[in-house]
Amino acid sequence: MPFTAAHSERSRRDFPALGVAHGAANMVFLDGPGGSQVPTAVIDAIGYVYRTCNVNTHGNFPPSREIDRRMAVARETLAVFLGAPDPACISFGQNMTTLNFALSTALGRTLAPGDEVLITELDHEANRGPWLRLKDLGAVIREVKLNPSGELDAADMAAKVTPRTKVFAIGASSNALGTVNDLALARRLTRAVGALLVIDAVHYAPHFPVDVQALDADFLLCSGYKFYGPHVGVLYSKPGALERLPTDRLRAQDPAAPYRIETGTLNHAAIDGMRAAVDYLASWGSGATLRERIVDAMTGIASYEHGLARLYHDEVRDIPGVRVWGPDFSTRARAPTISITLEGHTAEAAASALGAAGICVWDGNFYALRAVEVLGLAERGGLLRTGISMYTSLGDIRRLLEEIAKLG
Ligand SMILES: Cc1ncc(COP(=O)(O)O)c(C=O)c1O
Repeated sequence: MPFTAAHSERSRRDFPALGVAHGAANMVFLDGPGGSQVPTAVIDAIGYVYRTCNVNTHGNFPPSREIDRRMAVARETLAVFLGAPDPACISFGQNMTTLNFALSTALGRTLAPGDEVLITELDHEANRGPWLRLKDLGAVIREVKLNPSGELDAADMAAKVTPRTKVFAIGASSNALGTVNDLALARRLTRAVGALLVIDAVHYAPHFPVDVQALDADFLLCSGYKFYGPHVGVLYSKPGALERLPTDRLRAQDPAAPYRIETGTLNHAAIDGMRAAVDYLASWGSGATLRERIVDAMTGIASYEHGLARLYHDEVRDIPGVRVWGPDFSTRARAPTISITLEGHTAEAAASALGAAGICVWDGNFYALRAVEVLGLAERGGLLRTGISMYTSLGDIRRLLEEIAKLG
């Protein structure tokens, strides 16, 4: 089912924040890569939990049985969202960063001195810092080079996956430049040497259907607040992979997957809200099963977002003084996230001017610190980033282009 401008327009009614005036006008939210807005269905689901079953799990009374049921449904729903074979593959946590620290800590304990961990120069620090720290345990950390085009250097990647590589942690898509990485190559290379593939899909999951089985990921992480849900981290583990890890856990904690890496009491209301976000996305697709509806909806949304992003990309680069960073839109494999620099303005000054005009765009390095350094943009204050979401309209993009042109 195509997702058209009319569908996008209709979706806007589902997001209450889009109708709130701050000052004279409604805000234009183009900061989805930092965090998307949430539809009423998600807000209602969270409210429902607090109103009716805000108790702990595993109690022998009805509201507790209800929260157990909701957590089970949430795991099933997120498993379907990611194409996982079983709800036991889905662990929840505070956010992606916290889960990745837990994962890297556990994996680090399985490494011998001299074992190699490969990361990339393009990734968000959340998929670099937790792995870089393993240097202290004697691991050798190598980094795949970022080319000036905003793409990872494929030859460098191939050269840096060696028989000593035990883990390759790579992003599916860059939150700074919109690049979609060659995960098939990463898998081929890691498979040949028996290394684990850890994928950060935080920026990818809001824009494309994810299929962990097709990717053959050992671990994949994403974050609910980027795909119209609340702040909850999600870790997919391939069946059997989590059970092999010496995770940090209390004696009281269930050692089986998916609980093995979870700590303390989870944010049940938010997790149910994330389930509602996936159901909301699926409501834009058609098909007999939830998976079919999710894939159909995400495929349609991806195509709509790609069209708007391409239009913005092609028009903004014609504004005098603007330089667009990252890959162009000649291929399909591009997230709808576009970063620019403007001659004579720092990204911060430009974002402040746009903010004052009612446009929310982010500036700086977006925690993709290394990528911004490698591109030589750190001293210049980084990038001005526009993120396109399902609710972004052509009118939003026109308003943005007009305001940027005033700065130019
Ligand atoms: C690509 C990417 N990876 C990881 C993260 C970290 O996610 P979280 O805030 O859930 O820790 C972000 C957040 O912006 C991101 O964009």
